[in-house]
Order: sequence, then structure tokens, then C-alpha cells
Amino acid sequence: MGQTLEESPKAPSATRERVFSGIQPSGASHLGNYLGAQVNYVALQDRYDAIYGIVDLHALTTIHDGDTLRSLTHDMVLDLLAVGLDPARCTLIRQSDIPEHAELCWLFDTVVPVSWLERTPTYKEKREQGVDNSNALLSYPVLQAADIVIYKATKVPVGKDQAPHLELSREIVRAFNHRYGPIFPEPQPVFTEAPVVIGTDGARKMSKSAGNTIPIFAAPDEIRRLVMSMVTDPLRIRRTDPGRPEVCNVCQLHRFFGDDFESIWDGERSARTGCVDTKKLLAERIIERFRPMRERREQLAAEPDYVEEVLRAGAEKVRPIVEATMAEVRAAVGTGPRRAAR
Ligand code: TYM
Repeated sequence: MGQTLEESPKAPSATRERVFSGIQPSGASHLGNYLGAQVNYVALQDRYDAIYGIVDLHALTTIHDGDTLRSLTHDMVLDLLAVGLDPARCTLIRQSDIPEHAELCWLFDTVVPVSWLERTPTYKEKREQGVDNSNALLSYPVLQAADIVIYKATKVPVGKDQAPHLELSREIVRAFNHRYGPIFPEPQPVFTEAPVVIGTDGARKMSKSAGNTIPIFAAPDEIRRLVMSMVTDPLRIRRTDPGRPEVCNVCQLHRFFGDDFESIWDGERSARTGCVDTKKLLAERIIERFRPMRERREQLAAEPDYVEEVLRAGAEKVRPIVEATMAEVRAAVGTGPRRAAR
């Protein structure tokens, strides 16, 4: 026998396990998005039938200006193409182009107790941050479950912050299948080596809302400025104090930007190197890593119709999958016309 399906990039998509992930077009991609999720989006595109969504309906919970949302969605497609997603090897969709995501969300809403949603950690966090307490904010993880399982995807590359949402997705699938029969599989998260990237404050998860990000496509000088502002080991006050790489976020990030991170860590431990040296090196390595991607992004941005072409092709490609799932779902729940027996 030849290659196994897992090894063969040319295996027909109908027989390969499916991956889905979504990213909100709520601002520039940062190191957390990249190391925590996008690295795996790229890695999984050859081994699985991978579908990635720019989830503009989710972003509506925080972005309330149409022109802004449309242009952020466009920018996120450019980011994803630049980091290495290839429309010939995966499928890129804009969530709102597939209205059935919202239809399935509603059907899932009918099986989800409000208490499950109220106890979701991200809901509590967003409320504390002052995000409008809309019905959509509460139902946010229900739409996420619909995004994934409308494609019957079983693997979901995400950062650790999304683990509670994936747990909820599985609970929703169980509740729906319990009521209507075994329609959906239970999706599992797939994490990278960096499931939680800490921000420049050295304390909280890197996120746009915390204002502690390093955008991967920022200008080199901006990356230098942000890296130099990073909080390091709080107990290393003088240059001669030994550093603790385990608690220093700059040292932690070095793990992903070179094979020599252990010698960098030794330098910190013995105070041979200072925080400034370690930061300068990190900034240059980040700039170098993203330089080819930044150039690619600039080239793609110069082609005005390319992004829309990619999204149109993506929507067309997923149409049969969505129709098949929704026919099954509508038949089970009793919406739409009676279907002829097959
Ligand atoms: P979003 O748009 O906030 O983030 C996109 C991806 O980046 C990961 N991520 C991180 N990983 C590690 N460390 C960090 N500091 C960090 N910050 C962000 C996120 O975990 C995510 O994987 N709810 C989702 C979007 C979504 C979705 C879906 C995801 C909607 N539908 C279906 C998967 C499947 C979100 O807000 O991601």
C-alpha cells in the first residue's frame, strides 16, 4: 500500500479528518495569535481538510462600525495568507458569507441552558472589561460551536484561552445529539508548544484588550520599542543580579526564536548577560522571523481583488458541506419543508 491518508497531502478531502478554527478580525495579529494558534493552522493544512474562518459575526460583539469591521476582516485575511495559509491547501472563509452558522447557532441556543453560558470564564472576563452585555456576548460560544460542527470538524487548533469554549462545544453537541440523534462529532482542541503567550506586561495573557501585544507585522522600530518595554524578572533589579529564565517572559519567548535559548538562559542565570542584551536579541529575531511574511503581506495587499477572490472561492468550496449538514439538521429538528425519503 502507498502512503497513509495522514501523510498524503493529496488525499481526497472527503476522506480526511477535518480541522476548523476561527479568528476574530478585531485587530492586528500578535505573537499570541501566531505562536498559540496560527503556527498550527499552517502545520495542519497539509495533513487535514482544514477550514479557517475569519469570524466577523463574533467580532460584532465588540466592533460596532461597519467600515472598520470590513477593513479589519480584509486585513486578517492578509495576515493569514502572509503567515503561510495557502488557499490551494486549505479553505478560508468569512463567517458571515455562510449564514447557516447563525442558523445553527439559533438551533443550538434552544438546547443550551443560560447557566452554562453565564459561567463561561470569557463571558465573565469580557463583562469585567466593560464589553456591552448583549445577548450575542452571552451566546458567543454557541456560535463558536456552530462554526466548528457545521463542518463536522473534530480538531480545532486554538490557544489555551479557548479550552473552556471547546469544552462547551462538546457539551452542546452532547445536548443536541441527545435530543435529536447522533448528528455531530465532539471536537477536540489542538495546542501548540506555546498555548499561553504572556504579554509585554509579563503578567497577563497577550491580548488586544489588555493592550500588551506585539503585533507580528508592526514596523521593525515598533517591534524594538515594544520588546524593550517588556517586563522581565521582577527580582532582577541590578545588572549583576542572577536572572530566573523560568519567570522571565523575554527568556520564555526566546524558546520560539532560536535553538540556542538554553545558552541565553544560562547567560541570564549567571548574569553574564543583562536584560537589555536579551531583549535586543529577541527583538531582532522577531523582526527577522516575520520579515519574509511582512514582505509577502505587502505584495498581497497590492492586489486589490485577491482577498475577495480567496473568500469567494472558500465560500463556494464549503457550500456542499454546509448544505449536507443543514439538510440533516433541519430534517431532525423539523424546520423547512418535508424532505422526500431517500
Ligand atoms: P481570537 O480571535 O481571540 O484569537 C485567535 C486565536 O489566537 C489564540 N490566542 C492565543 N494563544 C496563545 N496565547 C495568547 N496570548 C493568545 N491570544 C490569542 C486564541 O486562542 C485563538 O485560537 N473565540 C475565538 C474565535 C473563534 C473560534 C471559532 C476559534 C470563533 N469561532 C471556532 C476556534 C473555532 C477567539 O476569540 O479567538
